[in-house]
Amino acid sequence: MGKASLKVTFCGIEFENPFCLSSSPVGNHAEMCARAFDAGWGGIVYKTLNVDERFKVIMPSPRLNSYNYNGNKFVGLQNAEQISDRTLAENLKDIAELKKNYSTKVLISSIMGFNDDDWAILARESEKAGADMLELNFSCPQMARKDAGHRIGQNYEAVEHFTKIVKENCNLPIIAKMTPNITDMLPVALAAKRGGADAISAINTIRAITDIDIDSLTPMPMIHGKSGITGFSGPAAKPIGMRFVSELYNDKGLNLPISAIGGIETWRDALHFILLGGMNIQVTTAIMRYGYRIIEDMKEGLLDYMNDRDIETIEQICGKAAEKLVDPSEFDIRYQVVSVIDEEKCIGCGQCYISCQDAANQAIIFDLETRKATVDEKRCVGCTLCKHVCPVWDCITYRTVDTLITPHAGRL
Ligand SMILES: Cc1cc2nc3c(=O)[nH]c(=O)nc-3n(C[C@H](O)[C@H](O)[C@H](O)COP(=O)(O)O)c2cc1C
Repeated sequence: MGKASLKVTFCGIEFENPFCLSSSPVGNHAEMCARAFDAGWGGIVYKTLNVDERFKVIMPSPRLNSYNYNGNKFVGLQNAEQISDRTLAENLKDIAELKKNYSTKVLISSIMGFNDDDWAILARESEKAGADMLELNFSCPQMARKDAGHRIGQNYEAVEHFTKIVKENCNLPIIAKMTPNITDMLPVALAAKRGGADAISAINTIRAITDIDIDSLTPMPMIHGKSGITGFSGPAAKPIGMRFVSELYNDKGLNLPISAIGGIETWRDALHFILLGGMNIQVTTAIMRYGYRIIEDMKEGLLDYMNDRDIETIEQICGKAAEKLVDPSEFDIRYQVVSVIDEEKCIGCGQCYISCQDAANQAIIFDLETRKATVDEKRCVGCTLCKHVCPVWDCITYRTVDTLITPHAGRL
């Protein structure tokens, strides 16, 4: 048994582990959430509530389309789902029941209002029901009304204003959930901070189109002959999530804890987000595909990683990779790499040769007789395309040359 612990304190609240369901159909009602807690999740962000007397949510159907690539199903997921279509009373009853039965687990109420009154009611009622925290949904990209979701999340003044209303109406820690459908997330996150937000969560889904039915000429999901540009999530969205989380973390003016979201499926994905500054981790699409049980691998994998390296707390490693991100103008360009092909591992497919010929610096020599590839180091510019197109893991690596000592291809 190692010394590592997955416990984190986020906004002053202790989580037994940083893993939470993100607000979505995976946390739709009490019975589902109870099963998730039993499976081992540290917290749940409940499906977004609204004041249903003012706006009755009706879900479009079908509302999902998986993004499939090259025979791999579900590389990403597009959804046209709305916030909760249950009544506020039903959801509040479920939140109260969950808190009664799972007092040590963290329950976060996700809320979305359409005016000051709504935000105030949702904040007060969530607190009364026993929620530990609030997450303000400023980011749903497909709300069936134009004054909500990501449109509000791109309006700094509105974000500041509604966060303030919530702050004035409850004593709970507030997380503001950001939209990635914006060039720069920082001004919005800073506006949320001015309004009183205690933390930022990112990302919600990315506006996208995943497929087109080429017979009816209609994008998918096809909702009675029409479609829409709606939210995209899952593994293919992870690089974009990582970008935004690191930018939030690295901004010294923001300095708020971050709940990281976006395509997290494994402990390694979660670790990546922790290394980029997330102290809390949220997941939806991977649960939609594999179920709540993925938490077991996530916890075990992260603990093993930490114990193997004598890391005792998540705090110790939070943000460590984000600190290594610099502006491209600051890259150290004195060094260059050249590719190294492992002759034993090379299967002679010639893919590296083709890619280097047609898209790089023609530095690979391919012997048609032996079907072996070698590198002409004098021509290699160290782009590493060959390594990335090679179908054999670890067949092509690279070594560094100091171009100050050895003038090299492309630097001569
Ligand atoms: C079907 C579906 C419904 C969602 N509903 C909500 C919602 O009601 N409120 C919210 O804040 N985010 C909602 N989200 C966004 C997720 O909470 C999460 O931010 C996003 O999916 C990225 O994480 P993932 O890649 O782990 O799914 C929804 C996502 C999906 C796929």
